[in-house]
Amino acid sequence: MKLLKAVSLNKKYGMERGWFTRNARSVHAVNNLSLSLESGETLGLVGESGCGKSTLARLLLGLEKPSSGRVMYRNEDYTDWTFSEMRMIRRKMQMVFQNSLASFNPLFTVEQIIGEPLRNYGERKAGARRATVADTLELVGLERRHIHRYPHELSGGQQQRVGIARAIALRPELIICDEPFSSLDVTLRKQMMDLLQELKHELGLSYVFITHDLSVVNRFCDSVAVMCQGEIVEKQSGATMLQQADHPYTKTLLSSVPVQDPRLRKKRLGEEWQPSHSYDVK
Ligand SMILES: Nc1ncnc2c1ncn2[C@@H]1O[C@H](COP(=O)(O)OP(=O)(O)O)[C@@H](O)[C@H]1O
Ligand SMILES: [Mg+2]
Repeated sequence: MKLLKAVSLNKKYGMERGWFTRNARSVHAVNNLSLSLESGETLGLVGESGCGKSTLARLLLGLEKPSSGRVMYRNEDYTDWTFSEMRMIRRKMQMVFQNSLASFNPLFTVEQIIGEPLRNYGERKAGARRATVADTLELVGLERRHIHRYPHELSGGQQQRVGIARAIALRPELIICDEPFSSLDVTLRKQMMDLLQELKHELGLSYVFITHDLSVVNRFCDSVAVMCQGEIVEKQSGATMLQQADHPYTKTLLSSVPVQDPRLRKKRLGEEWQPSHSYDVK
């Protein structure tokens, strides 16, 4: 069953004419983009910085409205829903951010951070909230003693675990991760990917996993969509993407992934790809 569907999404940001800009300009951040996600699927979304990945995430989450196109959750079209109408879907669709620390209220303890969505969705009893927070902490590999800590008292990896705990507190169906582990080192990144994989099986989650790093997608994603200048230029299954990328842009992205074996490295570097068109700047 289709969990999430986007049809011909467009998002243009207008820039007014001002002191420093002689002409009014617009940026076409998401350009006629369609995608769909099956229940239980992990969809990787890769592309270089500025290609519109975060804009797409905000459109899918209903945090921004598209200029045109539709977004659907379980065949329910929520494109024009108001913020309060979106509550029902937001419970099912959560987000993990790149920089968890920046997304936390620094005056909240771990218990309050993870408990906040529970409180927002009607869990009034402090005891019941605490029990769910403790269960959720265990799921993400943190200990009970972390419950009274403030975010700045945690390591980068632990902060990211709290970010994941907050996202799964309401036991959602889908999590959109926007470059969640870009700031972590390689070992921690691997631990976090393993954690997401475990949670997927334990809680029956689906993921949209946004990254600029193609090296993580083959192991983790069922399918991978490559985004370039607001469009999806290629979509393949995660395993085949690394072996048989078709689009020259994907090949260029792949050639920027570090390879340990120098013989393979030589083979991988093909011709560089140049964009044929630039952003829609008027
Ligand atoms: N609120 C906004 N107003 C104007 N332009 C924006 C806004 N948000 C994003 N953009 C532009 O849209 C393009 C895509 O940005 P973004 O979605 O953040 O890319 P990515 O997440 O892939 O790095 C960029 O050119 C960016 O400058
Ligand atoms: Mg981004």
